[in-house]
Amino acid sequence: MSVSQPYNSWVEVDVSVLAANIRALRSALSPQSQVIFVVKSNAYGHNLQATAREAAAAGIRWFGVAHLHEALAIRAIIPHVNILVMGAVDPQQASLLARENITPMIMGAEHGEAIAAVARQAGVKVEGHLKVDTGMGRLGVLWQDAVATYRFLSQQDGLSLTGLCSHFAAVEPRQPERAETQVERFLEAADAIEAMHEGPLMKHISSSRAISYHKEWDFDAVRPGICLYGYGASDPAMRFQTRPVLQWKCRVMQVKDVPADFPVGYYGTYKTEAPTRMAILSAGYADGYHRALSNRGHVLIRGRRCRVIGRVSMNWITVDVGQVGDVAAGDEAVLIGQQGSESVWAGELARICRTIPYEILVGIHSQAPRSLHAHNVESELDYINWGQLLPEPTDTPRAT
Ligand SMILES: Cc1ncc(COP(=O)(O)O)c(C=O)c1O
Repeated sequence: MSVSQPYNSWVEVDVSVLAANIRALRSALSPQSQVIFVVKSNAYGHNLQATAREAAAAGIRWFGVAHLHEALAIRAIIPHVNILVMGAVDPQQASLLARENITPMIMGAEHGEAIAAVARQAGVKVEGHLKVDTGMGRLGVLWQDAVATYRFLSQQDGLSLTGLCSHFAAVEPRQPERAETQVERFLEAADAIEAMHEGPLMKHISSSRAISYHKEWDFDAVRPGICLYGYGASDPAMRFQTRPVLQWKCRVMQVKDVPADFPVGYYGTYKTEAPTRMAILSAGYADGYHRALSNRGHVLIRGRRCRVIGRVSMNWITVDVGQVGDVAAGDEAVLIGQQGSESVWAGELARICRTIPYEILVGIHSQAPRSLHAHNVESELDYINWGQLLPEPTDTPRAT
């Protein structure tokens, strides 16, 4: 009794929630702080191009990505926004960066010098933001070397440093010292650099957690990711609140009644206590539904929470629908999202899997189709195909 279906599972991105989240953040910031919306890793699983396009329509003028190919994917559809590549770009790509008006983070003297040399040879100039490692222990020049590095790079034709940035290792309001130390190191370097620098220097350090609590660290720009997708910013004590943008769904493939003491799935790790009805769903760990949710997760069917029973297998999940009523093959099952008054968000799955919502979101298989959806204009926008929506590139001039 299986149902025919085009996909195992699919993702619905609610563009009205995304726009509301952007408005909520924007209204908490002072007008001079730019928002660099972090859309790396396929916009945290939401679909890069669609998210970027919707965010640009909602007023976002800067995007942050990890890799050059992501920057080019945005540039292909939005000619006029600024794009910051937060990973170390290959210096050989300097002319492409200049031609496509893409801003790399400069990771140190050697990286900047190599980019400048390639740019000079091509007769172009790359604008970059110097990345300072103030205590994250990842990419960037160590804070003690930041001023000397700036001085050296500012003498390199082919490269113009227009920004200075860093990244927090931990922002913990009850133990603020670690983040405060990073800010002190950042500002000490920034003050010395600004004294030498001609023209504006865009300073940015805060991502979602810092933005949620620390207005004083907004500086010239902030780099939010997860809060704009609706996670980590629901607490009313924070500067602004956001809601989840993405829902992830699949279908009931088969429903069957089983007796008491019936073993379910690999190794029979679950045995029914009483006669019940179970539903087998069209997604599994290959689609990104963690195996750690075996016997522990819940999905929503017909507005009710249904417990995952037995092990999650590669392509299927079994849930107990004994309490739900008339579940039928073809019914929609919500893996992440809301149905009626019930909801299961990525935070709940992350807690069970002992991970973070980021990993749950980016773990949804990239081939699961993403579709636009808007709560307030559902009939018009529901299930629109991305291909129909991507605008033709235009000749609109870019912001400088
Ligand atoms: C350098 C950098 N900036 C900003 C962000 C956005 O962080 P968040 O999603 O916590 O706002 C990230 C995410 O990992 C990052 O690596």
